[in-house]
Amino acid sequence: MGAVSILAIESSCDDTGAAVIVGDLDSAQPKFTVLSSVVNSQIPLHKSTGGVIPEVAARAHVRNVRPVTEAALAQAGMSLNEIDYVAVTAGPGLIVSLMVGVEFAKTLAMATGKKIIPVNHMAGHLYSIFGASNQWRGRRTVAQTAVKFPLMALVVSGGHTMLILMHDYLHFEVLGQTVDDAAGEAFDKVARLLGLPYPGGPAISKLALRGKPSIEFPRPMMHTKNYDFSFSGLKTAVLYYMRDHAGAVGQSRGNRGGKKISMRQKADIAASFQQAVVDVLISKTLRAAIEHKAKTVSLSGGVAANTKLRETIAQSCKKSKLNFLVPEIALCTDNAAMIGIAAYFRLRSGFKPVNFSRINADSNWEL
Ligand code: KG4
Ligand code: ZN
Repeated sequence: MGAVSILAIESSCDDTGAAVIVGDLDSAQPKFTVLSSVVNSQIPLHKSTGGVIPEVAARAHVRNVRPVTEAALAQAGMSLNEIDYVAVTAGPGLIVSLMVGVEFAKTLAMATGKKIIPVNHMAGHLYSIFGASNQWRGRRTVAQTAVKFPLMALVVSGGHTMLILMHDYLHFEVLGQTVDDAAGEAFDKVARLLGLPYPGGPAISKLALRGKPSIEFPRPMMHTKNYDFSFSGLKTAVLYYMRDHAGAVGQSRGNRGGKKISMRQKADIAASFQQAVVDVLISKTLRAAIEHKAKTVSLSGGVAANTKLRETIAQSCKKSKLNFLVPEIALCTDNAAMIGIAAYFRLRSGFKPVNFSRINADSNWEL
């Protein structure tokens, strides 16, 4: 097949993304280049409601998907005619958001006679690690070609927390997941308790810089033998701590606005909560890596934008003599480049792109 060019589209939550990827399907090692990656973030739109309202997100996707796609093509210096396949996130995610990207991709494919590569959003986060490169120059990135397997991948996003064992580029198994809240969801919920703005993850990590991790919050499931995670108890522990240290809190919404908690206390809570999440994630990932004789550990997904997590896991890997792979922040939070990269690997695995009539959004698509 040789060279392939992919236009990728992502709209599973609150970011509209489009990217152009070109790759070689015949090379012994994976080889691809991200020519462009454009993301229109809806953060300003969702700030006023403190979270994503699916209908509002979907309407913004409708407005943004075409200009974002046109910008991605323009930045790549390519026309639609030069694109071989359209890749699109078909799930998991918010159904109304997913549908916008999927229907747009189907329309493009129908109008141009191209075939579609449906991509699982979490596969996108997983495969984004191969876009990590010290050759990063702005929008362009070239594949890692010397990744050592087995690889233990920690994928942490707003909806998922997953430990995935990769045997090679094309074969992997999910070892564990969250049994309740995902790590990102815990960041978002604790941020709300602290009265911080949406999105919660970046707000907590910023506030944590001014505090000390002096509060001993629980480390849920840190020592269990399996590879599953649980973060909902940690969120409840934060709620109880706030109640016990700041007087009464609202019944169901916690101490929203955090009126009786000082900024100093809030910063300590943020730092302590963040430390608890980081400790659990790293301890389980390193144990899984050692038990499976992994040579490499990777970190990806929106929560991988967290500096404390990135730095601590890098140090732990160094100590354990494990290679460590983490993509640039722009590749960690939602984007279409990772969808294009995952589509490229899907093609390398022998997947045959499908006719537009055969794809539908599936909000619960499991990896
Ligand atoms: O992967 P992503 O962009 O979207 C989903 O697939 O969910 O992840 C979004 C999640 C949100 O929960 C957000 O709060 C979290 O990633 N996040 C962070 C940081 N930046 C984003 N969490 C902790 N620290 C951050 N700096
Ligand atoms: Zn995501």
